[in-house]
Amino acid sequence: MNKIAVIGSNMVDLITYIDRMPRQGETLEAPGFAMGCGGKGANQAVAAAKLGADVLMLSKVGDDVFADNTLANFQRFGIDTQYVNRVPGVSSGVAPIFVQSDSHNSILIVKGANAHLKPADIDAAQAALRDCALIVVQLEIDLATVYYAIEFGKRNGIPVLLNPAPAVAGLSPAHLAQLDFLIPNESELALISGLTVDSPESAAIAARQLVADGIRHVIVTLGEHGALYVGEEGEFRVDGLSVAARDTTGAGDAFIGCFARNWTQDRDIRRAMTQAVGYSACSVTGLGTQTSYPDAEAFAAFLKTV
Ligand code: RIB
Repeated sequence: MNKIAVIGSNMVDLITYIDRMPRQGETLEAPGFAMGCGGKGANQAVAAAKLGADVLMLSKVGDDVFADNTLANFQRFGIDTQYVNRVPGVSSGVAPIFVQSDSHNSILIVKGANAHLKPADIDAAQAALRDCALIVVQLEIDLATVYYAIEFGKRNGIPVLLNPAPAVAGLSPAHLAQLDFLIPNESELALISGLTVDSPESAAIAARQLVADGIRHVIVTLGEHGALYVGEEGEFRVDGLSVAARDTTGAGDAFIGCFARNWTQDRDIRRAMTQAVGYSACSVTGLGTQTSYPDAEAFAAFLKTV
Protein backbone atom coordinates (compact mmCIF):
# COMPACT_ATOMS: atom_id res chain seq x y z
CA MET A 1 0.00 0.00 0.00
CA ASN A 2 1.58 3.29 -1.04
CA LYS A 3 -1.32 5.61 -1.82
CA ILE A 4 -0.86 9.22 -0.70
CA ALA A 5 -3.69 11.35 0.71
CA VAL A 6 -3.35 15.11 0.39
CA ILE A 7 -5.74 17.04 2.62
CA GLY A 8 -5.35 20.61 1.49
CA SER A 9 -5.87 23.59 -0.70
CA ASN A 10 -6.21 24.31 -4.36
CA MET A 11 -5.89 27.79 -5.84
CA VAL A 12 -6.01 29.47 -9.21
CA ASP A 13 -2.59 31.04 -9.64
CA LEU A 14 -2.70 34.46 -11.31
CA ILE A 15 0.97 34.93 -12.06
CA THR A 16 2.30 38.32 -13.13
CA TYR A 17 5.94 38.53 -14.17
CA ILE A 18 7.26 41.91 -13.03
CA ASP A 19 10.39 44.03 -13.17
CA ARG A 20 9.54 45.47 -9.75
CA MET A 21 6.54 45.89 -7.43
CA PRO A 22 4.53 49.08 -8.08
CA ARG A 23 4.66 51.78 -5.41
CA GLN A 24 1.41 52.89 -3.72
CA GLY A 25 -0.68 54.85 -6.23
CA GLU A 26 1.54 53.87 -9.16
CA THR A 27 0.42 52.06 -12.30
CA LEU A 28 3.22 50.01 -13.79
CA GLU A 29 3.43 47.89 -16.90
CA ALA A 30 4.51 44.28 -16.35
CA PRO A 31 6.08 42.08 -19.01
CA GLY A 32 3.93 38.95 -18.70
CA PHE A 33 1.02 37.07 -17.18
CA ALA A 34 -0.05 33.44 -16.88
CA MET A 35 -2.91 31.68 -15.15
CA GLY A 36 -2.38 28.20 -13.79
CA CYS A 37 -3.51 25.60 -11.30
CA GLY A 38 -1.87 26.00 -7.91
CA GLY A 39 -2.45 25.93 -4.19
CA LYS A 40 0.02 24.18 -1.93
CA GLY A 41 -2.08 21.06 -1.44
CA ALA A 42 -2.89 20.69 -5.12
CA ASN A 43 0.70 21.35 -6.14
CA GLN A 44 1.97 18.63 -3.82
CA ALA A 45 -0.67 16.21 -5.05
CA VAL A 46 0.14 16.92 -8.70
CA ALA A 47 3.90 16.62 -8.17
CA ALA A 48 3.44 13.19 -6.56
CA ALA A 49 0.98 12.10 -9.27
CA LYS A 50 3.24 13.28 -12.11
CA LEU A 51 5.93 11.04 -10.64
CA GLY A 52 3.56 8.08 -10.72
CA ALA A 53 1.96 8.11 -7.26
CA ASP A 54 -1.58 7.04 -6.58
CA VAL A 55 -3.07 10.16 -4.93
CA LEU A 56 -6.32 10.82 -3.06
CA MET A 57 -7.19 14.52 -2.77
CA LEU A 58 -9.46 16.05 -0.13
CA SER A 59 -10.19 19.67 -1.05
CA LYS A 60 -12.96 22.17 -1.79
CA VAL A 61 -13.59 24.17 -4.94
CA GLY A 62 -15.94 27.13 -5.31
CA ASP A 63 -19.03 27.89 -7.26
CA ASP A 64 -17.38 29.65 -10.21
CA VAL A 65 -15.68 29.21 -13.58
CA PHE A 66 -12.46 28.04 -11.93
CA ALA A 67 -13.92 24.95 -10.26
CA ASP A 68 -14.36 22.76 -13.36
CA ASN A 69 -10.86 23.54 -14.54
CA THR A 70 -9.37 22.60 -11.16
CA LEU A 71 -11.28 19.31 -11.08
CA ALA A 72 -10.30 18.52 -14.67
CA ASN A 73 -6.69 19.30 -13.84
CA PHE A 74 -6.65 16.84 -10.92
CA GLN A 75 -8.26 14.21 -13.10
CA ARG A 76 -5.78 14.77 -15.93
CA PHE A 77 -3.06 13.53 -13.60
CA GLY A 78 -5.11 10.57 -12.37
CA ILE A 79 -5.78 12.07 -8.93
CA ASP A 80 -8.81 10.64 -7.11
CA THR A 81 -11.26 13.58 -6.80
CA GLN A 82 -14.09 11.71 -5.12
CA TYR A 83 -13.61 13.98 -2.09
CA VAL A 84 -13.02 17.27 -3.89
CA ASN A 85 -16.36 18.97 -3.38
CA ARG A 86 -17.95 22.21 -4.55
CA VAL A 87 -19.10 24.87 -2.08
CA PRO A 88 -22.20 26.76 -3.29
CA GLY A 89 -22.05 30.55 -3.28
CA VAL A 90 -18.34 30.73 -2.53
CA SER A 91 -15.37 31.58 -4.75
CA SER A 92 -12.58 29.14 -5.48
CA GLY A 93 -9.24 29.88 -3.85
CA VAL A 94 -7.11 32.31 -5.84
CA ALA A 95 -3.49 33.38 -5.54
CA PRO A 96 -2.22 36.56 -7.20
CA ILE A 97 1.53 35.92 -7.57
CA PHE A 98 4.27 38.37 -8.56
CA VAL A 99 7.47 36.89 -9.94
CA GLN A 100 10.49 39.16 -10.26
CA SER A 101 13.17 38.80 -12.92
CA ASP A 102 15.55 37.32 -10.29
CA SER A 103 13.06 34.36 -10.04
CA HIS A 104 11.77 35.26 -6.53
CA ASN A 105 8.08 35.64 -5.80
CA SER A 106 5.50 37.34 -3.59
CA ILE A 107 2.14 35.62 -3.12
CA LEU A 108 -1.27 36.68 -1.83
CA ILE A 109 -3.80 33.96 -1.11
CA VAL A 110 -7.56 34.18 -0.91
CA LYS A 111 -8.68 30.89 0.65
CA GLY A 112 -12.25 31.01 -0.68
CA ALA A 113 -13.69 27.49 -0.74
CA ASN A 114 -10.56 26.08 0.90
CA ALA A 115 -11.74 27.53 4.21
CA HIS A 116 -14.75 25.19 3.99
CA LEU A 117 -12.74 21.96 4.19
CA LYS A 118 -13.77 20.76 7.65
CA PRO A 119 -13.13 17.82 10.00
CA ALA A 120 -16.46 16.35 8.82
CA ASP A 121 -14.93 16.03 5.34
CA ILE A 122 -12.21 13.84 6.82
CA ASP A 123 -14.85 11.71 8.52
CA ALA A 124 -16.70 11.38 5.20
CA ALA A 125 -13.52 10.10 3.52
CA GLN A 126 -12.31 7.91 6.38
CA ALA A 127 -12.59 4.58 4.56
CA ALA A 128 -10.57 5.87 1.60
CA LEU A 129 -8.04 7.50 3.93
CA ARG A 130 -7.46 4.24 5.76
CA ASP A 131 -6.12 2.82 2.48
CA CYS A 132 -3.36 5.43 2.38
CA ALA A 133 0.27 5.08 3.44
CA LEU A 134 0.76 8.77 4.17
CA ILE A 135 -1.39 11.82 4.88
CA VAL A 136 0.05 15.14 3.68
CA VAL A 137 -1.25 18.47 5.04
CA GLN A 138 -0.30 22.15 4.75
CA LEU A 139 -1.68 25.36 6.29
CA GLU A 140 -3.90 26.86 3.57
CA ILE A 141 -7.00 25.29 5.14
CA ASP A 142 -8.59 25.70 8.59
CA LEU A 143 -6.23 24.81 11.43
CA ALA A 144 -8.99 22.75 13.03
CA THR A 145 -9.01 20.55 9.93
CA VAL A 146 -5.23 20.24 9.97
CA TYR A 147 -5.32 19.18 13.63
CA TYR A 148 -8.13 16.72 12.95
CA ALA A 149 -6.09 15.20 10.11
CA ILE A 150 -3.16 14.74 12.49
CA GLU A 151 -5.42 13.13 15.09
CA PHE A 152 -7.01 10.91 12.43
CA GLY A 153 -3.60 9.72 11.25
CA LYS A 154 -2.48 8.98 14.79
CA ARG A 155 -5.68 7.10 15.63
CA ASN A 156 -5.45 4.99 12.49
CA GLY A 157 -1.70 4.38 12.40
CA ILE A 158 -1.23 6.41 9.20
CA PRO A 159 1.92 8.59 9.15
CA VAL A 160 1.21 12.31 8.81
CA LEU A 161 3.48 14.83 7.07
CA LEU A 162 2.88 18.52 7.80
CA ASN A 163 4.37 21.16 5.53
CA PRO A 164 3.75 24.23 7.74
CA ALA A 165 3.26 26.64 4.84
CA PRO A 166 2.32 29.39 4.71
CA ALA A 167 3.90 30.14 8.08
CA VAL A 168 1.35 30.40 10.89
CA ALA A 169 2.24 31.43 14.45
CA GLY A 170 1.05 29.56 17.52
CA LEU A 171 0.65 26.01 16.17
CA SER A 172 -0.48 23.56 18.86
CA PRO A 173 2.60 21.84 20.40
CA ALA A 174 0.43 18.84 21.30
CA HIS A 175 -0.46 18.31 17.63
CA LEU A 176 3.04 18.98 16.36
CA ALA A 177 4.35 16.33 18.74
CA GLN A 178 2.14 13.71 17.04
CA LEU A 179 3.68 14.28 13.61
CA ASP A 180 5.76 11.72 11.80
CA PHE A 181 7.19 14.32 9.43
CA LEU A 182 7.47 18.09 9.73
CA ILE A 183 8.97 19.69 6.60
CA PRO A 184 9.39 23.46 7.05
CA ASN A 185 11.64 25.95 5.30
CA GLU A 186 13.94 28.08 7.44
CA SER A 187 11.48 30.88 8.20
CA GLU A 188 8.69 28.43 9.05
CA LEU A 189 11.07 26.55 11.34
CA ALA A 190 12.04 29.80 13.09
CA LEU A 191 8.39 30.65 13.71
CA ILE A 192 7.54 27.20 15.04
CA SER A 193 10.61 26.80 17.25
CA GLY A 194 10.85 30.43 18.40
CA LEU A 195 14.58 30.31 17.60
CA THR A 196 16.65 32.24 15.08
CA VAL A 197 17.22 30.16 11.96
CA ASP A 198 19.65 31.71 9.51
CA SER A 199 22.11 28.94 8.72
CA PRO A 200 22.17 25.14 8.44
CA GLU A 201 23.71 25.03 11.93
CA SER A 202 20.96 27.11 13.54
CA ALA A 203 18.36 25.08 11.59
CA ALA A 204 19.80 21.91 13.12
CA ILE A 205 19.52 23.38 16.64
CA ALA A 206 15.87 24.35 16.08
CA ALA A 207 15.06 20.99 14.48
CA ARG A 208 16.64 19.12 17.41
CA GLN A 209 14.34 21.00 19.79
CA LEU A 210 11.26 19.91 17.82
CA VAL A 211 12.47 16.31 17.72
CA ALA A 212 13.04 16.44 21.49
CA ASP A 213 9.44 17.65 21.80
CA GLY A 214 8.17 14.53 20.00
CA ILE A 215 8.24 14.92 16.19
CA ARG A 216 9.81 11.80 14.65
CA HIS A 217 11.42 13.35 11.58
CA VAL A 218 12.13 17.02 10.88
CA ILE A 219 13.36 17.88 7.38
CA VAL A 220 14.33 21.50 6.78
CA THR A 221 14.36 22.68 3.18
CA LEU A 222 17.28 25.04 2.60
CA GLY A 223 16.54 26.23 -0.95
CA GLU A 224 19.64 26.07 -3.12
CA HIS A 225 21.54 24.62 -0.13
CA GLY A 226 19.56 21.38 -0.19
CA ALA A 227 17.85 19.92 2.87
CA LEU A 228 18.67 18.90 6.41
CA TYR A 229 17.36 15.88 8.33
CA VAL A 230 17.12 15.64 12.13
CA GLY A 231 15.21 12.80 13.77
CA GLU A 232 15.09 9.15 14.70
CA GLU A 233 17.59 8.32 11.97
CA GLY A 234 20.21 10.79 13.24
CA GLU A 235 21.26 13.93 11.37
CA PHE A 236 22.38 14.43 7.79
CA ARG A 237 22.40 16.97 4.95
CA VAL A 238 21.52 16.48 1.30
CA ASP A 239 23.40 19.00 -0.82
CA GLY A 240 21.54 21.34 -3.18
CA LEU A 241 21.97 21.46 -6.94
CA SER A 242 23.17 24.51 -8.78
CA VAL A 243 20.69 25.47 -11.52
CA ALA A 244 19.67 28.63 -13.38
CA ALA A 245 16.43 29.57 -11.59
CA ARG A 246 13.64 31.27 -13.57
CA ASP A 247 10.66 30.99 -11.21
CA THR A 248 10.85 29.64 -7.66
CA THR A 249 7.06 29.54 -7.16
CA GLY A 250 5.95 26.13 -5.91
CA ALA A 251 9.48 24.77 -5.42
CA GLY A 252 8.68 23.84 -1.82
CA ASP A 253 5.57 21.98 -2.97
CA ALA A 254 7.63 20.14 -5.58
CA PHE A 255 9.91 18.97 -2.76
CA ILE A 256 7.00 17.69 -0.65
CA GLY A 257 5.22 15.91 -3.51
CA CYS A 258 8.40 14.21 -4.66
CA PHE A 259 9.41 13.30 -1.11
CA ALA A 260 5.98 11.76 -0.47
CA ARG A 261 6.10 9.79 -3.72
CA ASN A 262 9.53 8.35 -3.00
CA TRP A 263 9.13 7.74 0.73
CA THR A 264 5.91 5.79 0.23
CA GLN A 265 7.73 3.55 -2.25
CA ASP A 266 10.43 2.23 0.08
CA ARG A 267 10.41 4.26 3.37
CA ASP A 268 13.99 5.41 2.64
CA ILE A 269 14.13 8.99 3.94
CA ARG A 270 17.58 9.89 2.64
CA ARG A 271 16.78 8.64 -0.87
CA ALA A 272 13.43 10.48 -0.84
CA MET A 273 15.16 13.70 0.25
CA THR A 274 17.80 13.39 -2.47
CA GLN A 275 15.11 12.94 -5.10
CA ALA A 276 13.09 15.82 -3.64
CA VAL A 277 16.05 18.22 -3.66
CA GLY A 278 16.60 17.36 -7.35
CA TYR A 279 12.92 17.66 -8.23
CA SER A 280 12.59 21.02 -6.53
CA ALA A 281 15.74 22.28 -8.33
CA CYS A 282 14.30 21.11 -11.63
CA SER A 283 11.02 22.92 -10.92
CA VAL A 284 12.71 26.32 -10.54
CA THR A 285 14.18 26.06 -14.04
CA GLY A 286 10.64 26.25 -15.50
CA LEU A 287 7.92 28.90 -15.29
CA GLY A 288 4.75 28.57 -13.22
CA THR A 289 3.94 26.15 -10.43
CA GLN A 290 2.51 22.81 -11.57
CA THR A 291 3.58 23.60 -15.14
CA SER A 292 7.20 23.48 -13.97
CA TYR A 293 6.92 19.98 -12.44
CA PRO A 294 8.41 17.27 -14.66
CA ASP A 295 6.99 13.79 -14.99
CA ALA A 296 9.19 10.83 -14.06
CA GLU A 297 10.75 10.60 -17.52
CA ALA A 298 11.58 14.31 -17.80
CA PHE A 299 12.91 14.30 -14.23
CA ALA A 300 15.25 11.40 -14.99
CA ALA A 301 16.49 13.30 -18.04
CA PHE A 302 17.06 16.43 -15.91
CA LEU A 303 19.08 14.49 -13.34
CA LYS A 304 21.49 13.38 -16.09
CA THR A 305 22.26 17.04 -16.85
CA VAL A 306 23.27 18.12 -13.32
O1 RIB B 1 3.56 27.30 -2.90
C1 RIB B 1 3.11 27.95 -4.06
C2 RIB B 1 1.65 28.12 -3.99
O2 RIB B 1 1.33 29.01 -2.96
C3 RIB B 1 1.03 28.73 -5.23
O3 RIB B 1 0.64 27.77 -6.17
C4 RIB B 1 -0.12 29.54 -4.67
O4 RIB B 1 -1.34 29.08 -5.09
C5 RIB B 1 0.03 29.48 -3.15
O5 RIB B 1 -0.81 28.57 -2.61
